[in-house]
Amino acid sequence: MHLFLVGAGPVGLVTAVGFARLGHRVTVSDIDAPRIATLAAGRSPIFEPGMEDAIRAESAAGRLAFTTDPVPPAGAGCSIVCVGTPTGPEGPLSTEQVEHAVAGLLESAPPDHVIVVRSTLPVEGPDRLDRLVEARRTHGPCPTVITNPEFMREGAGLRDFDAPSRVVTGWLRPGDRDAAQAVADLYAPLNAPTLVADARSVALIKLASNVFLATKIAFANELARICDAVGADVDLVTAGVGMDDRIGRAFLSAGPGIGGSCLPEQALALPLLSARAGVPTPLIDAVSGSNASHQRAVVARLGSLLGRPLAGSRVALLGLAFKAGTDDVRESPALALARELRAAGAAVTGYDPQARETARRADPQLETGTDPVEAARGADAVLVATEWAEFRGIDWAAMRRAMAGDLVYDTRNVVDARAARAAGLRVEMLGRRA
Ligand SMILES: NC(=O)c1ccc[n+]([C@@H]2O[C@H](COP(=O)([O-])OP(=O)(O)OC[C@H]3O[C@@H](n4cnc5c(N)ncnc54)[C@H](O)[C@@H]3O)[C@@H](O)[C@H]2O)c1
Repeated sequence: MHLFLVGAGPVGLVTAVGFARLGHRVTVSDIDAPRIATLAAGRSPIFEPGMEDAIRAESAAGRLAFTTDPVPPAGAGCSIVCVGTPTGPEGPLSTEQVEHAVAGLLESAPPDHVIVVRSTLPVEGPDRLDRLVEARRTHGPCPTVITNPEFMREGAGLRDFDAPSRVVTGWLRPGDRDAAQAVADLYAPLNAPTLVADARSVALIKLASNVFLATKIAFANELARICDAVGADVDLVTAGVGMDDRIGRAFLSAGPGIGGSCLPEQALALPLLSARAGVPTPLIDAVSGSNASHQRAVVARLGSLLGRPLAGSRVALLGLAFKAGTDDVRESPALALARELRAAGAAVTGYDPQARETARRADPQLETGTDPVEAARGADAVLVATEWAEFRGIDWAAMRRAMAGDLVYDTRNVVDARAARAAGLRVEMLGRRA
């Protein structure tokens, strides 16, 4: 099928490449002209493993094309909307971009066209889209709108597209159930479990999934703090807890906190929804606060390990992306730590193998180094915030020479502690015994 894809962010590009590799022809549209020019030149505007090679291969095969034209090409049977849903004046998950894109497609696409909304919607989102459909229908038949949330993880996006945990599609009106099933059928070659339901329930599936994952991370982080206090090891504790199939090991890893464009935003969106609905949800309400308190606790712990006031200290922050495998710094815990450290009077220099530019754009106050040693020059402490594999191979002897102090505080359990200690450094790990 010829697919039109609107919004070339991480989700749009993964979806476009994924469908192209399934043999579909995909035309990708974005309002960001420089982004489209980058893509048309065979380069990826985001760092995502395998993305650039895949863009080149699918473009060369004639299955992937890029445009700034908002109108679907003649013959495209389906438009897939992957625009952003950032926090807006009304709170998290603004549907402004989605409504704008869907309204345009309702006008420009033929009545047998299907508009698939892959962006994350708040629970009231489907009603808003249905109002657009209703308004358009007063002028005659128009395309059908179906929702189809994305569950991919940045850094593993292409792999997740090829092996999704599930495919979920939602209908705005019961009469559109067959169209929702037809959208689910597009993913049939991937052999994933499929669920077709009303779009409100589908929106809640997406929100609840992410808030549950955020809860697991927040739980592991609080466990890490307990481990620090009582002398236990959080990796052993979560390994043992996760051996229970009812709990599972995934997303039960302690670290500097939840981040990315999805989990923190949705950890705010679900409590707002329950508050508006008048439903007390103390557990769900607590997740966001737990995350913020965790970042304060990490900085406080660093301060107590440092043995001198944070004010006037210099900290090298290794890892700025919200997780390894991406250059995305949206809601990155590393940037939250940088802010907390600066608020405590410390100077911060960051380093990241992929996210230096995005981090500097997000936090213009942040100084960055071109490698770990440069970031560590004159530092009293190194704080590791992202689990990049390259941090395992850091030259700790060079770090020791560059640093003024001797503390390495690793919140991800990623560094080679033995090598760092051999270089004369003091290594402490969040929730783990030295
Ligand atoms: N990033 C993730 O890991 C992830 C995972 C699952 C779901 N989601 C959800 O998927 C959606 C997209 O996420 P993202 O991170 O890719 O978003 P993003 O904001 O990074 O990218 C959106 C893109 O859409 C473009 N755009 C906006 N309005 C447009 C329009 N009218 N026409 C054409 N292009 C337009 C923007 O220029 C931008 O390039 C969001 O709802 C997000 O919550 C994201």
